[in-house]
Amino acid sequence: MKLIAFGMRKDEVGFAEEWAQANQIDVEITGDLLTTDTINQAKGFDGIIALQTIPYDDALFSEMQKMSIKVLSVRNVGVDNIDLVAAKKHNIMVTNVPAYSPNAIAEFSVTQLMQLLRKTPEFNLKLKANDYRWAPNISRELRSLTVGVIGTGRIGRVAMDIYKGFGAKVIAYDLHPKPELKEAGLYADSLDDLFEQADVITLHAPATKENEHMLNRDTFAKMKQNVLIVNTARGTLINTEDLIDALKSGQVGGAALDTYEFENPIFNHDLSHVDIEDPLFNELLGMTNVILTPHIAFYTETAVKNMVEIAFNSAQQFLTTGAVETEVK
Ligand code: COI
Repeated sequence: MKLIAFGMRKDEVGFAEEWAQANQIDVEITGDLLTTDTINQAKGFDGIIALQTIPYDDALFSEMQKMSIKVLSVRNVGVDNIDLVAAKKHNIMVTNVPAYSPNAIAEFSVTQLMQLLRKTPEFNLKLKANDYRWAPNISRELRSLTVGVIGTGRIGRVAMDIYKGFGAKVIAYDLHPKPELKEAGLYADSLDDLFEQADVITLHAPATKENEHMLNRDTFAKMKQNVLIVNTARGTLINTEDLIDALKSGQVGGAALDTYEFENPIFNHDLSHVDIEDPLFNELLGMTNVILTPHIAFYTETAVKNMVEIAFNSAQQFLTTGAVETEVK
């Protein structure tokens, strides 16, 4: 069996080499992302391991089929950038890593909320201007707030536990409620009910066609004045233009965005010598009550190790047994 891993960063290479050594399997590693321009590097391999936020489309799967590649194992959890219908059509098994570290993302989202709440960006700006006054940047305490968690999968549930630890009132919404959370009375009656009650809304849902722009002009209007928004899930969950308007009007009091609707050309690229030509992004960058981070909630040693090992294990398992529990259905 021969595997090739695309889009490998330096911090992943060691884990991949250890895996190859331990399993005595030929592994080729490249930093290139998987596109129709780079796919030819996969000739002669049985499986591809990849991680990227750009699309895996029909053309790519068609090339894989021509090369007799059997499996694409992605090193991450989200699969919204994968054309699964095309994968099936071209007979390519797709696997993901459903739980590399829910804590990594949940902890980060809470961290970002704490920064918004305690006005860290504002105080940092004041500090740079030699202004050490407290007012007017007074804070609220989490124990006095209601946190609305949208999406109660693995990550959302860890976030709920952390917020409960802070003494916040936690309510949740999920299209598919979990029985144990339902029994504990943790779900709001509806999404609108959550919007009405929550002082903070934190997103932990996957991106689907149905929930695209679930936070928009109309839904912001249903929320409490000054609500805080945290998004470590997917940028497409929020209509960015509407968010900017809601931030300007004060309907939304602040936003911590680790994912952004149009992030692909920006996040995880060195743009230090380039002007970013994205007016929405530039507007967000200039807002003192917005914290932007480049899709780093996942980025911990534990998560990266698991992402690499589980993705390689999945490819190996599928190629040796013809089935794998991490198959994306
Ligand atoms: C995911 O695992 O889906 C993430 O959002 C992490 C990122 C590296 C794509």
